[in-house]
Amino acid sequence: DKSLPASGILAGKHVVITAGPTREALDPVRYVSNHSSGKMGFALAEACRDAGARVTLLAGPVSLATPQGVTRINVVSARDLLAASEQAVDAGCDVFIATAAVADYRAEHIAEQKIKKQGDSLTLTLVKNPDIVASIALHAKRPFMVGFAAETQYMEEYARGKLERKQLDMIACNDVSRGDIGFASDDNAMTVFFSDRFGLEKVILEKANKHVIATRLVECLVQAGINDQN
Ligand code: CTP
Ligand code: CA
Repeated sequence: DKSLPASGILAGKHVVITAGPTREALDPVRYVSNHSSGKMGFALAEACRDAGARVTLLAGPVSLATPQGVTRINVVSARDLLAASEQAVDAGCDVFIATAAVADYRAEHIAEQKIKKQGDSLTLTLVKNPDIVASIALHAKRPFMVGFAAETQYMEEYARGKLERKQLDMIACNDVSRGDIGFASDDNAMTVFFSDRFGLEKVILEKANKHVIATRLVECLVQAGINDQN
């Protein structure tokens, strides 16, 4: 019954989750993007909902059904995703989880007409996209901030670097050099690192279905004390 107050470890919390790839137009018919499936973000949306949270899912172009009871907002580009994120955080958000594989760069100029084939090579100038999670971490009403990373080498060093640079509270990292997890896979294996101020050891989540990993990640949020600080 929707009129009953939610129970669960995230009861009363509003969780905003970014998911999927972003798509950066080059011209009316072409874009730059990546292979993110969105599965991890959608699994987290379900896990947070099951833990009693109100969940807003900011989704790039993915072919996944919206989880029951979750508010979904579709976005295309990184700049769309930033605008939607700011709006969601302005409206009041306790936990911000960034699983989106945001395109790091976009075309400097989007051609108004379809680019015609010419010559033997084509040079595109790309410019850096805004860092959404880093930008939200500086927000006046800063939520508990969770990042994700997929690394092919130096996993712990890079993950901790991102945690600090982006001023996150927690980062979940997968080692994509394994080849059997991540992106399109239904499974994932992650290592979770926390901001030093929590004094928590890293948590290793062994390879499991993304739904199992999502539930473990919700437990990590609670372990870091989101219920104490908000
Ligand atoms: N992220 C973001 N906005 C961006 C780039 C990344 O919000 N423009 C978020 C991702 O959603 C993820 C975290 O930052 O939670 C780490 O993303 P990642 O691509 O690993 O980090 P980058 O800083 O882009 O570093 P690089 O791609 O060079 O490893
Ligand atoms: Ca990146």
